[in-house]
Amino acid sequence: MPARDVLNGVEPLADLLRDHGRRFRERFGARPGARLFFSPGRVNLMGAHLDYSGGPVMPMAVDRGTFIAVRPRDDRRLRLESTLEEGALEVPLDALPERAEDRWTDYPIGVVRHLLRDGAAVPGADVLFGGNLPIGAGLSSSASMCVGIAFALQASWGTGGTIDDCIESALWGEREFVGVHCGIMDPFAVGYTRPGSILWLDCKDRSIDHVPIEVDELSIAVADTGIRRGLAQSAFNERVDECARAFAKLRRHAPAAECLRDVDAEVLAAHGGALSRAEAFRARHVVAEVQRTFEARRALERGDVATFGACMSAAHASLRDLYEVSVPELDHLVETALSWEGVHGARLTGAGFGGCIVVAMRKDARPGFAVHLGSAYERAFGRSTAVEFFGAAGGPVEL
Ligand code: GLA
Repeated sequence: MPARDVLNGVEPLADLLRDHGRRFRERFGARPGARLFFSPGRVNLMGAHLDYSGGPVMPMAVDRGTFIAVRPRDDRRLRLESTLEEGALEVPLDALPERAEDRWTDYPIGVVRHLLRDGAAVPGADVLFGGNLPIGAGLSSSASMCVGIAFALQASWGTGGTIDDCIESALWGEREFVGVHCGIMDPFAVGYTRPGSILWLDCKDRSIDHVPIEVDELSIAVADTGIRRGLAQSAFNERVDECARAFAKLRRHAPAAECLRDVDAEVLAAHGGALSRAEAFRARHVVAEVQRTFEARRALERGDVATFGACMSAAHASLRDLYEVSVPELDHLVETALSWEGVHGARLTGAGFGGCIVVAMRKDARPGFAVHLGSAYERAFGRSTAVEFFGAAGGPVEL
């Protein structure tokens, strides 16, 4: 896969990475041996909140992400710093923190604990993180960092892990160490998307496929509400639990079902009465979103971007009304985006409760779009929105 060409082709990204290397040398000294890595963020276009219910998802890695500079050191110590966050950490690899401490370093520490679970004899490392992805905005900054650090350390230490190994370490770090009950979509999107394609990931059997896109017809814009909800993590975990409870009740009536994704609309209609209000709403979203995601894939494969976009917009309505993870600012941005000529569809991306919307649009419809969205948002909420146009990237790569 020509992932390296993505960086070479997107000159600003390569320049930003070189600049990151300069900052690394300023902080850690100019000794040779430092290596530079880029790990993408992602937008999710279809399959909203389906990954932990075993459904199909359609995310895409973007040309914004995490920059990682690494240089091995020979004393089995690990030093972590970031250009984006306060607070450095230096620890011996043999005495890594055993519990998360509610700081950004929890994510890389969780990953390193998993990489070293069998006591690998590695030398230690100085690491500087940075990047051009908004943090906590629903663009998977945490999976970008976790898959990226696994990739960068395996390469720098010569321990030779595969992308699957990086994904496993990233998942363990986030779930078991940091304690977020996240699904598998984000690390797979970061690890496996190919440039110029949307990833198709079936979260039940982890099979993947790549659906190419024609960027003139389907280009990606992202608009940030600027809202970060402190309660988002607990509300996310609550949705995971509600889906698990809905499945536990419905599976009695669908003996072949292995996860909520396998429950069909007839079973839900006949037995939904046994569910609480929240469980029934979540299950209705999941059952319909599974169908919409298959429909969206078929539409994309025949070049029907209008239907693909309509599926995205229907997903947003369902996230708002049934999954109840939207906020008025996200709804406003989606509605304003949809009123622009050349926009195919729009929806919140990521877990919701704030963060960003993702918009699928014709490339030639871009001029004026940011002003259209920004001025309406400012009138409605008295705050600004950052609108950016993203390209489709591939997985983690070394410069
Ligand atoms: C977050 C989680 C993902 C996924 C999305 C919603 O990004 O980390 O696993 O559940 O929300 O689709």
